[in-house]
Amino acid sequence: MTLRQHPKIELHLHLEGAAPPAFIRGLSQEKKIDISGIFDERGHYAYRDFWHFLKVYEAATSVLVTPMDYHRLTLAVLEQSAENGVIYGETFLSPDFCGGRDLGAWREYLHAIEEAAAIARIQMGITLRGIVTPIRHFGPDKAREVAVCAAETAGAFVTGFGIAGDEKVCEPADFAWSFDCAREAGLGITAHAGEWRGPDHIRATLKALNPTRMGHGVRAIEDLALVDELAERGTVLEVCPGSNIALGIYPDWRKHPIGQLFDRGVKVTVSTDDPPFFHTSLTREWDRLADAFDWDAGVFATLNRTALDAAFCDRDTKETLAKTLEAAHG
Ligand code: ADE
Ligand code: ZN
Repeated sequence: MTLRQHPKIELHLHLEGAAPPAFIRGLSQEKKIDISGIFDERGHYAYRDFWHFLKVYEAATSVLVTPMDYHRLTLAVLEQSAENGVIYGETFLSPDFCGGRDLGAWREYLHAIEEAAAIARIQMGITLRGIVTPIRHFGPDKAREVAVCAAETAGAFVTGFGIAGDEKVCEPADFAWSFDCAREAGLGITAHAGEWRGPDHIRATLKALNPTRMGHGVRAIEDLALVDELAERGTVLEVCPGSNIALGIYPDWRKHPIGQLFDRGVKVTVSTDDPPFFHTSLTREWDRLADAFDWDAGVFATLNRTALDAAFCDRDTKETLAKTLEAAHG
């Protein structure tokens, strides 16, 4: 079995951020929306830094205007994931982009996404769940509306709630109402933190939002007492090393803290975040990590197992997936 074919679990993927550039270009031509400025001469997404990345991301998303666009997007994204051996994935879904937080419209987008996921399950053998995610820099009021969309549609497919966007805008406590609303609806809780702000922000996130998982969280490494606290609490980090390196948080793979976090007992998992933006895939992440940290098959079995344990899905789904992983890891 090649590395690419090896079964993988991925917990942290932004649906719009995973859109192949050719797919977005095609839609922009169909809809006659000019977004040519977001591509470089080779047709890749072009951005200068994280904050420009967020703008380019939103411009790319501007061509996704109907539920059918999201249906097609979901299929295109899952095809890429399945080609990289992903057997189970979770994706961030944004009612901000899907119907402007109107609950009725959101239900239509969600239906289209779920239908695509059901097709992919049969045709590609990949299982998907959705994590509803407000965008931090759109502010706490909009996040509340997003939380209501999440709570009203929580179920077999929408199983989680998170928060993404510009970490430097607002404080975690500003979003506490939204997270409490989602938690009461039975959703699993994750939050981006410790990507663009350091240990204090991770602590504030743990205190205000009480997530069981954290998107990135890697800057905990700047405070070893916090690293030990994360290990003790069993907080699962959704680490996206290729994203962090592409966005300039760490200069190269060997200097990425995932190795130290793992060695110190933190529950780490590996994901791609927004793969075409960062010229990556889950296969490439595994390959670079094996190279940088001398990680063998046993480590990747642990990463997969940690991700499956932390997945926001039902026990039957986990048991089925566990069998596939056991067969592959031996
Ligand atoms: N949205 C898409 N990718 C993101 C990232 N890496 N951090 C925060 N928000 C995001
Ligand atoms: Zn992310």
